[in-house]
Amino acid sequence: MIRTDVLVIGAGVAGFSFAIRMAEKRPDIKITVLTKTNEKESNTSYAQGGVAAVWDNDIDNFRKHIADTLDAGDGICDENIVEIVVREGPERVREIIDWGARFDKNKKGDYDLGREGGHSENRILHYKDITGWEIQRTLNEKAKLYPNIEFHEQYFAIDIITQHHLGRNVTRLTPDIECYGAYVFNKQSKETDTILAKVTVIATGGAGQVYKSTTNPAIATGDGIAMVYRAKGRVANMEFMQFHPTSLYNPAGETPSFLVSEAVRGFGGILKTTDGNEFMQKYDDRLSLAPRDIVARAIDNEMKLRGNEFEYLDCTHLDQEAFYNHFPNITDKCKSLGIDPAKDFIPVVPACHYTCGGIITDEMGRSSIIRLYAAGECTCSGLHGANRLASNSLLEGLVFADRIHQDISLKIDHWNLQNDIPEWDAEGTTEPMEMVLLTQSLKELKEIMSSYVGIVRTDVRLKRALDRLHLLYSETELLYNNTIISPQLCELRNLITIAYLITKAAQMRKESRGLHYNTDHPGQFEYKETTLM
Ligand code: FAD
Ligand code: SIN
Repeated sequence: MIRTDVLVIGAGVAGFSFAIRMAEKRPDIKITVLTKTNEKESNTSYAQGGVAAVWDNDIDNFRKHIADTLDAGDGICDENIVEIVVREGPERVREIIDWGARFDKNKKGDYDLGREGGHSENRILHYKDITGWEIQRTLNEKAKLYPNIEFHEQYFAIDIITQHHLGRNVTRLTPDIECYGAYVFNKQSKETDTILAKVTVIATGGAGQVYKSTTNPAIATGDGIAMVYRAKGRVANMEFMQFHPTSLYNPAGETPSFLVSEAVRGFGGILKTTDGNEFMQKYDDRLSLAPRDIVARAIDNEMKLRGNEFEYLDCTHLDQEAFYNHFPNITDKCKSLGIDPAKDFIPVVPACHYTCGGIITDEMGRSSIIRLYAAGECTCSGLHGANRLASNSLLEGLVFADRIHQDISLKIDHWNLQNDIPEWDAEGTTEPMEMVLLTQSLKELKEIMSSYVGIVRTDVRLKRALDRLHLLYSETELLYNNTIISPQLCELRNLITIAYLITKAAQMRKESRGLHYNTDHPGQFEYKETTLM
């Protein structure tokens, strides 16, 4: 049994920036941070475009960033949360600059502000086209400076611990569910440890791996969202899975799909059909820089019209030296596939990219479970509504990490460890018989979600998906109850929960809004969030 003051599950921008702030404020308390792989692997590390913040007050202001976020969110953002994130954002970005994060500057020595879809001004701070790598590097180095941060790699959180583990009947209507820590599988020792904590912060990122084609790395299996849902916490808006319009089409297949940043369109890249014609004028006045839901649907539609596997992004007219300086990683990747952006159009296709729904949190990052907070992509904070505005995600992680550390600082001295928690019970379980039982189910799951619950949905497709998910669910629960635990099995189980939450929420929303587009319900009627009981 491991005892700690604060348990942080996840070491991306949200988890690690929270841990650093908490460690700085309270050098007397122990903060235990877990990652299920290593310090380099997170969605954060893959972020390309940058972090959105109102920076140049001559051209930009909070009102504009708020309006752009609300517009992308298509009517269901929480305006109070949008205001908080936008107003506090620049200060949080300044802090990570103080911690050592580098962002590109122009010849005048000012920050070079990029543009992305749905933004009315240039406000994206970036480090070339590998901004996330730079932020993760900064956080990894900074966290090592605090002796009260204990960092464990290769630790897989299985479930959070609540009164349920003390034998009490906990339902979604139980008002006072409390979190006492988590059961965690140590991938090196192959043992399941119990970590007791006064307070737990979930920062496990998104769930893009539920689809066949995604820009998300293998860690993005929605573990935190599934854990909270199993613990009877509140989860909402899971139907809003964001597809990025432009992942690089690679005929050989590639996991994850390589992203061609929206900042490339902000730099002047133009979407064209395979016949070489512009098409975005048919869909939105903002053309290639319309919000993501609109552009992804437009590309999907053009591909279906022509029976294509991709459309094109034309960058051949751009200043190639400036292009390479801003996008060296994207240029090198294209060239490795024989595509020279200076001469060739780049083949692009939409891919699942971001989980807008998740664990419901309030303005201080508190979940519906007492002593359980959540930050980053695993949350439904109210910032993104029905569609996230580009580059608002790193910002959200930074802002809520700060707010959570403020709230916990006020409360932690009033909380004690719950000491009578039983150890993990593996009795009656045996070694898995055949890995194919897991790998094939995972393939089926991704097929179901990609075919029936993708960019365009119908009632029939959603019903088909749910029918098939029920079978996968019962087969996997049987395996889970009889087999010795493994991260692969837990991830499959979590992804099935995520798939169920997405599909069920999509079925509940009898309208088309933001990222959820159902041809049987093309109008907009409802404004409420889809919380699953
Ligand atoms: P992550 O960074 O994903 O971190 C999750 C952490 O949780 C990891 O450490 C992981 O190991 C750990 N974890 C997960 N499950 C478990 C478990 N069961 N047990 C223990 N640990 C666990 N956003 C922007 O704002 N700007 C961009 O330019 C941008 N570009 C992007 C480009 C790509 C290709 C991708 C994929 C995303 C991009 N995003 C961007 C989105 C953004 O990167 C993510 O939303 C954000 O980084 C999520 O941060 P996070 O801290 O919530 O989670
Ligand atoms: C991108 O660079 O296009 C990704 C930005 C984001 O997802 O916010």
